[in-house]
Amino acid sequence: MAKTVSDPHACTLDKIISLCKRRGFVYQASEIYGGQAGAWDYGPLGVEFKRNIQNAWWHYMVQRHDDVVGLDSAIFQHHKTWEASGHVAHFSDPMIDCTECKARFRADQLIEDYVDAHPETNPGKPVDTMTHEEMKAFIDANINCPTCGSKERKYTAVREFNLMFKTFQGPVADEAQLIYLRPETCQGIFTDFKNIVQSNRMKIPFGVAQVGKSFRNEIIFKNFIFRTCEFEQMEMEYFCKPGTDDEIFEKWRKERWEFYKKYGIAEKNLQWHHHDKLAHYAKDAYDVQYNFPIGFEEIEGIHNRTDFDLSQHTKTSGKDMDYMDQDDGNKKYTPYVIETSAGLNRNFLAFLCEAYEEQNVGTDGKEDYRTVLHLHPKLAPITVAVLPLMKKDGLAEKAMEVKDALTEEFVTDYDQSGTVGKRYRRQDEVGTPFCVTVDYDTITEGSENFGTVTVRDRDTMEQQRVKISELSGFIHNAISNWKPVVR
Ligand code: GAP
Repeated sequence: MAKTVSDPHACTLDKIISLCKRRGFVYQASEIYGGQAGAWDYGPLGVEFKRNIQNAWWHYMVQRHDDVVGLDSAIFQHHKTWEASGHVAHFSDPMIDCTECKARFRADQLIEDYVDAHPETNPGKPVDTMTHEEMKAFIDANINCPTCGSKERKYTAVREFNLMFKTFQGPVADEAQLIYLRPETCQGIFTDFKNIVQSNRMKIPFGVAQVGKSFRNEIIFKNFIFRTCEFEQMEMEYFCKPGTDDEIFEKWRKERWEFYKKYGIAEKNLQWHHHDKLAHYAKDAYDVQYNFPIGFEEIEGIHNRTDFDLSQHTKTSGKDMDYMDQDDGNKKYTPYVIETSAGLNRNFLAFLCEAYEEQNVGTDGKEDYRTVLHLHPKLAPITVAVLPLMKKDGLAEKAMEVKDALTEEFVTDYDQSGTVGKRYRRQDEVGTPFCVTVDYDTITEGSENFGTVTVRDRDTMEQQRVKISELSGFIHNAISNWKPVVR
């Protein structure tokens, strides 16, 4: 749902895109050739930030849980994997073409966008429950082609378009060599289920987590990195005994909500969306939605996949994927699966939007805005920036020495150009939580502040003098005690 915002200092997607390019978070892929639709490159700060989100997720989901282990399965799985999972038959979007200009649209999105702009033309039911015929009738009655503007509304019927990228492995393009780029990471977890149980003596209930690239032949790209053809998922499949699944589903819903809160997202900017229409594999499903500048949109799906995937792989491969429960008289059953599936790129965008503030720091009634990212210190691409007050008199050398020592434990930056005020602003704009300044007191023997530096807090802008020998402990402590800024 689109939002209208009148505050000139509010966060907008255009401001985020501009900051991302200006400061090296995200660039358009192949920009020198006019850009590759729906593809983005993560720059020097973006790659650090993305990796920090992934590490935070991994720590939260795997390292904190004795009953969750990791996996890194191949992008290329046997093509039968995707027959078994239902993706060959069902993984499609409803498409409609304008026969005049040949532009192709996702019929459901065309309707959603139109209804957002014209709320009085409500189709009377959620778009995801409309049949192809109902979508076609609504589009014919209301929507001029968004590309050529034709009022004739000469559209094809609504048809399903499979979203998987397919190619052939090796030199011969025949069906036996058919291969798909995986559209979700989790199928590798299902095909490895028996290996993991046997090699790691896993006992139900347990989870398997992985982070990796997925590929979908999306035809509509908008909203920056929100929807792309190539993206990363952070997925966890939790295997459990049938009958325990509803309770476990609720437990993981709660945990995932807490993850977003822990890493700085205000609860008012999160909401649940319960699915009316379920995916072919699901018994129940909720999305976590974040309040982006474009409105509330999905960042993660939580699904009760039942025993669908393991049963399907048993049927298709002929290999028994059942589990023998030694804690329950060797009873055999096909485990149920609760899945948490988060988009890393959408998390990236959500954490950025949440952190963004244009804050008036002017005094005496004068306006002076700083752009600041209030990122959780564990997510910020740079943790500590070290700044010499001046380049001369040995301050730069001392600052470099302090930076080198901190580099062993933190991601650091060194900046000596421009006034200290300007350098603080540059660091605020990329979310650096701590700026350490080396000044004359630091190096003047006999000064009561000899051997100390100032540490400036990004969020409060307050400065404290800290002994260099205690600096690392001070920063670790401040990271552990960080609280999101309430706005
Ligand atoms: N294994 C289940 C699954 O893949 P999904 O709801 O299709 O479920 C999970 O995808 C998450 O992956 C979404 O919540 C979203 O964050 C991310 N995602 C899906 N398609 C995407 C796309 N085209 N671009 C970016 N992220 C995407």
